[in-house]
Amino acid sequence: MLLSPAGVEALRTALTRTNFTAAGIAARLGPQATAAVARNDFRAALRATTDGDPLATLIRVFICEQTEPEPAVAAALAPLPIADALDAGLVERYRDGVRMGLDLEPYGDDWWVLADVPASARPGRSLHAEHVLGIGGATQTMIGAAVRRPVERALDLGTGSGVQALHLSTHARQVTATDVSPRALRFAATTAALNGQDWELLRGDMVAPVAGRRFDLVVSNPPFVVGPGATTHVYRDSGRVGDAISAELAAAAPGLLTEGGTMQYLANWVHVSGEDWGERVAGWFAGTGLDAWVVQREVADPMSYVDLWLTDVGEADPQRMADWLDWFDAHKVEAIGFGIVSLRRGGHDDPVLRVEDLRQRVEAPLGDRIATWFDRHDWLREQGTEGVLAARYRATDGLRLHQEATIGPEGWGVDRQVLTMPHGLRWTEEIDPLVLALVGGADGRLPLRDQLALLAAAHDVTVDELAEAAGPIVAHLVERGFVEPVRP
Ligand SMILES: C[S@@+](CC[C@H](N)C(=O)[O-])C[C@H]1O[C@@H](n2cnc3c(N)ncnc32)[C@H](O)[C@@H]1O
Repeated sequence: MLLSPAGVEALRTALTRTNFTAAGIAARLGPQATAAVARNDFRAALRATTDGDPLATLIRVFICEQTEPEPAVAAALAPLPIADALDAGLVERYRDGVRMGLDLEPYGDDWWVLADVPASARPGRSLHAEHVLGIGGATQTMIGAAVRRPVERALDLGTGSGVQALHLSTHARQVTATDVSPRALRFAATTAALNGQDWELLRGDMVAPVAGRRFDLVVSNPPFVVGPGATTHVYRDSGRVGDAISAELAAAAPGLLTEGGTMQYLANWVHVSGEDWGERVAGWFAGTGLDAWVVQREVADPMSYVDLWLTDVGEADPQRMADWLDWFDAHKVEAIGFGIVSLRRGGHDDPVLRVEDLRQRVEAPLGDRIATWFDRHDWLREQGTEGVLAARYRATDGLRLHQEATIGPEGWGVDRQVLTMPHGLRWTEEIDPLVLALVGGADGRLPLRDQLALLAAAHDVTVDELAEAAGPIVAHLVERGFVEPVRP
């Protein structure tokens, strides 16, 4: 740990006593200053914390990134001796006072997470090779995407600050967390102790420390950054070439999961000129026997990608940028995709595999939507074709229809009709008039087969003919949640 057990207890006492929690800070600052802080605008927060009392001092140091007089910081951190806080690197002497040395973030209702100060807050200082990531965009994406159902055993691969493990501890009886970096494990152990948690922390390369063990839920925000395989910062670089880390996790998944278990991780993948990126990614899951759902959320061109990741570590080395871009050129990488992989060990001979591009159409958090996507597949599998036809359906709340039409001699001629999901994963689905009629009539009263019988009579075709055409389309609409089966 970064502090002794007694030191952690003293820090916890200080943070609790001063009310340095998300709620305590919000109450002290008020809604406007709190909202401004979320945008990294500290002016109002600084105006609200001029009193020099312990909570004000902690807010100024750890939230507003200020240097404060040492006696005030010592009083705010008491009973943790300031010498111990300095030794642990929690604070550091700077100019005529003391400033934060680590990012101590009040998080959730009453948690604290320890991480390193980001590069943006220390211009000119290079990041530690074992820099421990704070709670940024990718971390939050993984937090929001995880399926939060009660499980016995959960695993966080590449735990860093321990924030994923912290969330796992709300719905898993036992939490195991791994990291290749001893420094990161010290941070995770401190985060755990500070929050009264007891996790199994293991050091090693990806799944090696848990070889032969199985978990009900595995989450990972791994070092997914794609490149030539050089490792300068362990939070970002896996040491694997290209997108091999994401393929490696896919290959490891069957051996990590209990029957019915779920594994979710963030991934990057290359778009290679002349290749279908979706087929490339789908290839990682072929033969695993797992149900797999991959959602591409963003795509970046090589230049902005390299620029982003060099800026992230505060590195402005033109040669490094050139080498990285040369590697992309040599491997015909024209873009890099970012997304969420969700896998489930369903125990079926014919697992479901979907790789989808949902750029600009994903509304976080996704955890519940991912869980219910797998539930809907279970339902479709249980029903089979006959069960799908026998069920009653209701169109999802707020479902929207967009229509494009062209005026002609006979009035409007409809060109396209598109259904749009109003929330979550905002899929769009072009549909024909028959399906439109089925969805429009899906009010939960008639079984699909009876709805089809009415339409068959109106169109002078047999029910079986219509059922053969409409059954798979309705199943597809169920998969995506456009229509929901009405459970008896
Ligand atoms: C992107 S950070 C994620 C940290 C944290 N889980 C989160 O969500 O914010 C990736 C983590 O994986 C760890 N890591 C890097 N290479 C690894 C490897 N080969 N095996 C295990 N962990 C690794 C890093 O030390 C780092 O803590």
